[in-house]
Amino acid sequence: MTTVQAILSETTAVLNAAGIDESRLQAEWLVSHGLSCRRLELYARFGETVAVDEADRIRAGAERLRKGEPLQYVLGEADFMGFIFKVDRRCLIPRPETEGLVQTVLDIGALWRKGPPVLLDVGTGSGCIVISLARLRLAGRYRAVDISPEALALAKTNAELHGVRDRIGWTTGDIFLPPFLPGLDAVVSNPPYVRTGDWAHLPSHVRDHEPRLALDGGPDGLAVIRRLVGGAALALRPGGWLAMEIGDTQGRAVTEQLQEAGFRNIRISRDLAGKDRYATARREKGRG
Ligand SMILES: C[S@@+](CC[C@H](N)C(=O)[O-])C[C@H]1O[C@@H](n2cnc3c(N)ncnc32)[C@H](O)[C@@H]1O
Repeated sequence: MTTVQAILSETTAVLNAAGIDESRLQAEWLVSHGLSCRRLELYARFGETVAVDEADRIRAGAERLRKGEPLQYVLGEADFMGFIFKVDRRCLIPRPETEGLVQTVLDIGALWRKGPPVLLDVGTGSGCIVISLARLRLAGRYRAVDISPEALALAKTNAELHGVRDRIGWTTGDIFLPPFLPGLDAVVSNPPYVRTGDWAHLPSHVRDHEPRLALDGGPDGLAVIRRLVGGAALALRPGGWLAMEIGDTQGRAVTEQLQEAGFRNIRISRDLAGKDRYATARREKGRG
């Protein structure tokens, strides 16, 4: 028999000994998840007894954290835009920066003013971008694609849980292969943009656990972005929008690519840490 206080102390000690950052906080998340209560409720429940199966699950989770697995994979869920998404090794863990990308798309007034816009999320992963948009903007018509069938299966599960699965068209594959979807109003994407050479320097909880396909953007980090820009220039209707997350040193190169592909209204904007993080651009109105 163990109490809430005891299992929290035990878990904190295990994580601490393994050198895990913010071990107390991570222990609180793990224990509260294991007890199906809110994190701060733990303190009101210190004296309560923890059932054996609950304690076993918490200890198993602590063991996974101790071995370096990210907290969100261990909990099996992540918060994004105030929504809960299932996550596991099939997908990238949604990042707070990407919430800024969703907000950027929500803020494109011209996109939402006329009829229901058709939006494509390229590299949907957990589905966090397209599902959040579908939840927040009922008017949109949505498509999502991912080259990873495993990620796409998880995205569909998430869409089901959020009640929007039937409002999104799902495609497995490389979006840049035909048949291409023409006439889109917006392409939104958080593509892989880490330089291959930087892979070895990523924190081990990322490098050893998250899918490389989701992160590795080739030798200069721009391999997928380059194709995304070229593909979007063909797939967007004249006046349609491209919104992408980019690496913090990629603003200039991405601007040049967008200019070469004939985009206008090119804007590089920053994330909450003040780093260049988003590229938005509009396909020239007069073309096509
Ligand atoms: C950085 S993750 C983004 C996942 C999710 N959209 C998010 O923001 O958390 C990039 C995603 O793109 C997918 N991907 C990589 N190359 C692709 C390609 N050529 N075509 C389609 N999807 C691709 C990966 O499988 C991965 O799910």
